[in-house]
Amino acid sequence: YGEFNQKIDYVFKVVLIGDSAVGKSQLLARYARNEFSLDSKATIGVEFQTRTLVIDHKTVKAQIWDTAGQERYRAVTSAYYRGAVGAMLVYDMTKRQSFDHVAKWLDELRSHADKNIVIMLVGNKSDLSTLRTVPIEDAKDFAQSESLFFMETSALEATNVESAFLTILTEIY
Ligand code: GTP
Ligand code: MG
Repeated sequence: YGEFNQKIDYVFKVVLIGDSAVGKSQLLARYARNEFSLDSKATIGVEFQTRTLVIDHKTVKAQIWDTAGQERYRAVTSAYYRGAVGAMLVYDMTKRQSFDHVAKWLDELRSHADKNIVIMLVGNKSDLSTLRTVPIEDAKDFAQSESLFFMETSALEATNVESAFLTILTEIY
């Protein structure tokens, strides 16, 4: 069958969360459109993009939601998390503070989302690893203690972006 009358077997809502400027919108742009911009503007409100893929012979539409890391630009929290079956919690490996806030994001996620939600911790900007301030072991330990998946990515270089989303979607499935 052609792409215009493709039968969708599942729609999975995945939410992106994390501090402002960690690269949430660029990870989404890379995954959904294979695009990247260095002068990305801070997100205001909520946006989403979709990508359709086949997992185990079933057509899955990933609906990926992106909101502002900045409190004042954020949309209604409960609506954002409603129905989400996956989450990508992003920090910037060159900004320690964005990693220190991960626990706070996780609390918010766990208090609003379904308890079976699949969560991946993502350390973005691996292309800047010479400026790293978050040791990979710290992130791995945290992820393990909280039962999260973990990956380091670069939206700029397209490293592990595909793999991070695919892991979440496959795990949901
Ligand atoms: P808010 O919308 O404010 O929550 O921020 P955000 O998390 O969506 O950040 P955004 O994707 O807008 O990226 C912020 C800045 O980091 C932009 O200048 C991006 O170009 C840059 N950036 C994003 N991903 C990467 C990456 O993998 N490597 C590098 N070097 N820069 C990146
Ligand atoms: Mg954004």
